[in-house]
Amino acid sequence: MKVFVYGYRKEEAAYFSACAKAMQLEIGTCAQRPTLENAQLCQGYECISVLSTPIDAALLQKLQEVGVRFLSTRTVGYDHIDLAYARKIGIHIGNATYASESVADYTIMLILMALRKMKLILQSAVSQDYSFDAVLGSNLKGKTLGVIGTGAIGQTLIRHIAGFDCRILAYNPHPRKEMEQYVTYVDLNTLYQNSDIITLHVPLNDATYHLLNEAAFARMKPGVIIVNTARGPLIDNTALIAAIESGKVGAAALDVVEGETGIYYNRRKGKILKQHDMAVLNSFPNVLLTPHLAFLTDDSYRDMVTHSMKSCYLFMHGEENPWLIQ
Ligand code: COI
Repeated sequence: MKVFVYGYRKEEAAYFSACAKAMQLEIGTCAQRPTLENAQLCQGYECISVLSTPIDAALLQKLQEVGVRFLSTRTVGYDHIDLAYARKIGIHIGNATYASESVADYTIMLILMALRKMKLILQSAVSQDYSFDAVLGSNLKGKTLGVIGTGAIGQTLIRHIAGFDCRILAYNPHPRKEMEQYVTYVDLNTLYQNSDIITLHVPLNDATYHLLNEAAFARMKPGVIIVNTARGPLIDNTALIAAIESGKVGAAALDVVEGETGIYYNRRKGKILKQHDMAVLNSFPNVLLTPHLAFLTDDSYRDMVTHSMKSCYLFMHGEENPWLIQ
């Protein structure tokens, strides 16, 4: 059985080798993302594995023409894939889960970094400014944290951060009974009005696009801290910049940002950043941008590869596949 892997990275090599051996797979690889130009590389492969680069209708069409029937993304999110078109032409799509601690831990780190003004502390230290100027932080204890989305990552975050003695409000269309020992489920409006810190853990889709927009920021507490380790377009950059400039938003820590596609994960040293919002956000002392790395742990790498390969294996064997997107 054969699987073709796009976006292959050397850090993943050992995990792919282990899968090849354990599942008797013949694995073809290409370091580049799939494009119309290199799609013929997977001719003869029923299953391919990709990362988070855009997979639009034209590319899906081309992949189908060369015989692809199953596309597994080695990511939890699958908003980079035109699912509707894939369905239309009969390509099945799967994602790959990994331990939610990777993103949950990183989120806690960003929350603490924002509270303690860590960007400014690090910047000041570089220029040997060791004064207390503008670096007075706040404790998490006693704050109200608003968690939007209580899926796997949201739940892990809540369980771990509960030890900091903060009050936790949560919003999820379907509240989870087992989380009620840690959180009070509220509607979005109540969460906006009462939270000192708001963190996002929902998928990106039509319903969540620009969830945090001008109207949402207007309902928040002055000085609120915004944390996003989910997907950039959940936040309207223009509205966020205005809210930071007016002081409504006191700080933001963003591992993802609207417009990051094609910029993050590339070597861009010496290049002009044409994404103006990112440049403006990055210039603010109270905004910390990190390049979509919350997932990046050795455990996640292993799971992303192993689950993607298992998913291809299950597809080829016609067996039930927990990663199949219905
Ligand atoms: C995901 O798994 O959905 C992520 O956000 C990480 C990925 C872009 C590498």
